[in-house]
Amino acid sequence: MRIAVCLTEQKAEPWLEGLRAALPGAEVSAWAPGAAPADHAVVWAPPQAFIDEQPGLQTLFNIGAGVDALMKLRLPPTLKVVRLDDAGMAVQMADYVCHALIRHFREFDGYEADTAQGRWSFRKPRARSEFPVGILGLGVLGRRVAQAVASFEFPVQGWSRTPQQVPGVRGYAGDAQLPQFLAATRVLVCLLPLTPATTDILRKETLSQLQPGGYAINVARGAHLVDADLLALLDSGHLAGATLDVFRTEPLPADHPFWRHPKITVTPHTSARTLRDESIAQIAGKIRALQRGEAIAGVVDPARGY
Ligand code: NAP
Ligand code: GLV
Repeated sequence: MRIAVCLTEQKAEPWLEGLRAALPGAEVSAWAPGAAPADHAVVWAPPQAFIDEQPGLQTLFNIGAGVDALMKLRLPPTLKVVRLDDAGMAVQMADYVCHALIRHFREFDGYEADTAQGRWSFRKPRARSEFPVGILGLGVLGRRVAQAVASFEFPVQGWSRTPQQVPGVRGYAGDAQLPQFLAATRVLVCLLPLTPATTDILRKETLSQLQPGGYAINVARGAHLVDADLLALLDSGHLAGATLDVFRTEPLPADHPFWRHPKITVTPHTSARTLRDESIAQIAGKIRALQRGEAIAGVVDPARGY
């Protein structure tokens, strides 16, 4: 069995070593143009040339949860695309989102400013019931985040394409229920995959339906958000702030207004990092399952785009 590794943003060597250790019978090598065709591939944003040179490729293992970069390629219809299925990302997403939510709700920015002035001043406690949290996307990451937020006793609701049941979370599904979901939300978390249906979903029309004093947390993809619409709603006061981890252009350009906006917190696409050991264990386990003829989780439906 041959496994090709084609990574554009990560060093290949530790992945090669890890995959060789996990799959001792396999021939694992880094891809370069003209390399021998492989049976399975481990990739991040590979070039079209990689796909075109792999007529016998059976499975494309993405080393991330989001497959939007792969969905832009011309892929043979028989090729199975497999996304990372948690692999240690869900708990990271949960602590990132809870941190952003609690920092806003408990006014930690205000306390930090007070500390800088040597000022001992209390703020009035705020009611959790007035900060309902809405999570766009109730998949592998969205459900984990919803459960973590619910454990802090905030009202939580989620929106998905098809109806989903998550204990303690009020579910809304489909475009028809989006307005109800937004009207019931003050802190909005985006955990949708980027597809034609979800591109620009965080725009004036949707963000202005949030409750006054709304707060946006985008941890999915930059192209979910219309940057100018967010800035206008922050400046009008309808939104109180935003925490953004993902951007249309990454790294975020030095002259982008998000960097210096007083109501925006920027982090460098770090809310849920790929953990190499966990990911290799998951991918190797799935390759072994495929060899035994078993079904595996995390197979992408190209028609849905996720
Ligand atoms: P997932 O398991 O595929 O879940 C996607 C959720 O979105 C599902 O609940 C799905 O609905 C819902 N959805 C998809 N299209 C929809 C639509 N048109 N309308 C309403 N709901 C829709 O994905 P995941 O593993 O939770 O990951 C979500 C995204 O997070 C990834 O695609 C990636 O872009 C992003 N991410 C970011 C980072 C980071 O560091 N910032 C790290 C990892 C992942 P159904 O339940 O009905 O299918
Ligand atoms: C990271 O953004 C991922 O999709 O895993």
